Amino acid sequence: MTQPASSKVFADRIGRIEMSATMAVAAEAAKLRAQGANLVDFGAGEPHFNTPQHIKDAAIASIQANFTRYTVVPGAPDVRKAIVERHAADFGSNYTVEETVFSVGGKQALFNSIQILVDHGDEVILPVPYWVSFKDIIEYAGGKVVFLETSEAESFRITADAIEKAITPKTKAIILNSPSNPAGSIVTEADLERIVHLAHERKIYLLLDECYVYLNYSGKCISGGSYTFAKDHIVVLGSLSKTYAMTGWRAGYALAPKAVASNLTKLQSQSTSNATSFVQKAAVAALTSSQQCVVEFRNEFIDLRDHMLARLAEIPGVTCTKPEGAFYVYPNIGKYIGKGGIKSATELATRLLHEGHVVTVPGEAFGTAEHIRMSYPVTKQNIDEGVRRMGEFLTGLK
Ligand SMILES: Cc1ncc(COP(=O)(O)O)c(C=O)c1O
Repeated sequence: MTQPASSKVFADRIGRIEMSATMAVAAEAAKLRAQGANLVDFGAGEPHFNTPQHIKDAAIASIQANFTRYTVVPGAPDVRKAIVERHAADFGSNYTVEETVFSVGGKQALFNSIQILVDHGDEVILPVPYWVSFKDIIEYAGGKVVFLETSEAESFRITADAIEKAITPKTKAIILNSPSNPAGSIVTEADLERIVHLAHERKIYLLLDECYVYLNYSGKCISGGSYTFAKDHIVVLGSLSKTYAMTGWRAGYALAPKAVASNLTKLQSQSTSNATSFVQKAAVAALTSSQQCVVEFRNEFIDLRDHMLARLAEIPGVTCTKPEGAFYVYPNIGKYIGKGGIKSATELATRLLHEGHVVTVPGEAFGTAEHIRMSYPVTKQNIDEGVRRMGEFLTGLK
């Protein structure tokens, strides 16, 4: 018997999305830890460094100075100026304070951008493998995700040719996340330039998720925001979370044409209002002080990546592309699917967690069937121990 519409509890849109897979894994790991399990955790998508002292000091000083009231919704002028100037200095962009919205993490900037741009039936091109939240956020808005397959043999590289082929008259937006989560793949400068031209000519919004823009190990950090001629069709989504080891602070931003920025502000005014006042002051300190901490973090991540890749290479049958940015490896564990009764990467990651006590995130969450994501901001000893356990678990499967 069908139920009358009025008895339905939850709106259709909440049924369209799933709990974030990375957060689900973290919850399962926390449960095991509470039971006394000693886990090696490659699940968390965050740096292992503490937030630098000068950033913490700025927040504390602003609390002491009673900077604890509401600010204007898109953030106080000083934080927006700091964002604009940092981006201009690093990438040659030319945004104004009015084209800047400071938000509760990059995730809010992304979520709100999709809500204000994507309508029911609009297509959004999303390269695979993708960060878990992109798909759900697009679907929550009623948009249709157009998955763009990439080739593992080419390190999951996203090319302008592939993007061009995926464009249809219904394409509203393209998501580019370079360096990417989960595979650490990057878009080359030549491809980025062509993609910007494509988006501009076809009047499609290019949503540039720059969460890992400073964690680019290929020698040069690049931003599509530097192509100022195409500004009308570009939304830069930035985050301080990974760059400055500030994941818990919730500090992110959007740089966008004025009309987009004012609609982002409108939506934010009806949800969180401003991001936390003293976090804004911490962000000013992060963005305007010496960037030496970013250089040091990047160098350590490169060292850890190389260490992780060397250890993984010792497990027979596991292959892995070389990430050129971010702080994840995305090994292919396909050779072990089918062994020991394991039918999928999700089953493999679950059993690796319960039997091997190693936390990873299964590839299904990122749109591929034969991988797991491992986050390497941990100590080298943890990498050694975690990969040793993983090798023992996998090679023990019959
Ligand atoms: C690709 C990507 N974009 C955006 C975010 C959001 O970061 P935050 O909301 O912490 O700024 C993350 C976090 O994991 C991410 O991996």
